[in-house]
Amino acid sequence: MKSIVALVAGLTLCVTSPVLADEAPPALADNGLARTPPMGWNSWNKFACNVDEALIRKTADALVSSGMRDAGYRYVVIDDCWQGARDAHGDIQPDAERFPGGMKALGDYIHSKGLKFGIYSDAGLKTCGGRPGSWGHEYQDARQYAAWGVDYLKYDWCMAGDQHAPTSYYIMSRALQESGRDIVFSICEWGNSKPWLWGPQVGNLWRTTGDIYDAWEGVKDYSLGMMNIVDKNAELHPYAGPGHWNDPDMLEVGNGGMTTEEYRSHFSLWAMLAAPLIAGNDIANMDADTKAILTNREVIAIDQDALGVQGRRISKQGALEVWSRPLDGGGRAVVLLNRGEAPATIRVTWDQLDYPAGLKVRVRDLWAGRDLGVSRNGHEAAVAPHGVVMLMVKPQV
Ligand code: GLA
Repeated sequence: MKSIVALVAGLTLCVTSPVLADEAPPALADNGLARTPPMGWNSWNKFACNVDEALIRKTADALVSSGMRDAGYRYVVIDDCWQGARDAHGDIQPDAERFPGGMKALGDYIHSKGLKFGIYSDAGLKTCGGRPGSWGHEYQDARQYAAWGVDYLKYDWCMAGDQHAPTSYYIMSRALQESGRDIVFSICEWGNSKPWLWGPQVGNLWRTTGDIYDAWEGVKDYSLGMMNIVDKNAELHPYAGPGHWNDPDMLEVGNGGMTTEEYRSHFSLWAMLAAPLIAGNDIANMDADTKAILTNREVIAIDQDALGVQGRRISKQGALEVWSRPLDGGGRAVVLLNRGEAPATIRVTWDQLDYPAGLKVRVRDLWAGRDLGVSRNGHEAAVAPHGVVMLMVKPQV
């Protein structure tokens, strides 16, 4: 880990010499974690402040029984409102009514299920939900989390006053590294001070925008619809890579505000963006469509591809877009996206994917689960309104 002086000097450089789109800063503070985007569940999108240990245990059980854990979802993250007060030593304690068994026992339970334990705090005096934040207690909190067996910290930015975000996140990052436990560090300052420029030196993932809300598109106060978030993240592809990811926020799949077609698009685009796949629905009560989307292993494999290159939009004609993501081994994931209100035919040609003319390419449809044969020039498909066709293409050898 670079010293804080070097970090601040580096930031000054970033400010004085503009970073061009293709010049991502190198990852300097690798803690060795999150080599692929983290996967798991977080309480906030569905349950907001209504969290307690029964919900967390029930969700951990459901992650196992639904097959989600075995599909790759590992982190069970309790978002805001788990905190009570600090004790006489200043140690943070859970809300005793909601978490009477304590956090160590809850962490042990989560671990006993083959899952990992995530928690939430804030760089300010208070969290967004008005619970105690970590300001002035960073090392003490990191030690406490480590003692509870925490494996993942989401660190928010409410009530942060005039703090300097890179420095505040750096302090908690150091505290976690010195806690003696491997803890994934999730930066949540909503993209305010361009965390893609300093995030790789400090944490494993960084939120790029205000909160997602469960709609195809739109802006509501501080929150953004799904496609608005996609558009913001499309610009940020140079900054992602193994150990450091753009975070377009948690999934809304299954929360009821979008159609099944739209949720399939949401999940496909998160996979193309190499986004953390943090489910945000009620896992214990999800319907079959929701489960089928969240556990589509071929789409998850795209998200988790070892090369760790974020996909990008390679063509846009009105409402019709083509996205491509280079994969380990020379293949590509391709999404044909119809943002319009009428069915449409969308075509991708192999030269758009930087393949030489005449190359024989195998095509597989990942939502249909079907091989579509070999083509020498491209592929076209009918795409439903607000829908995608997601392909995996591979040069034939
Ligand atoms: C902020 C974050 C959300 C959630 C809430 C909790 O809005 O961006 O993801 O953690 O706080 O209060």
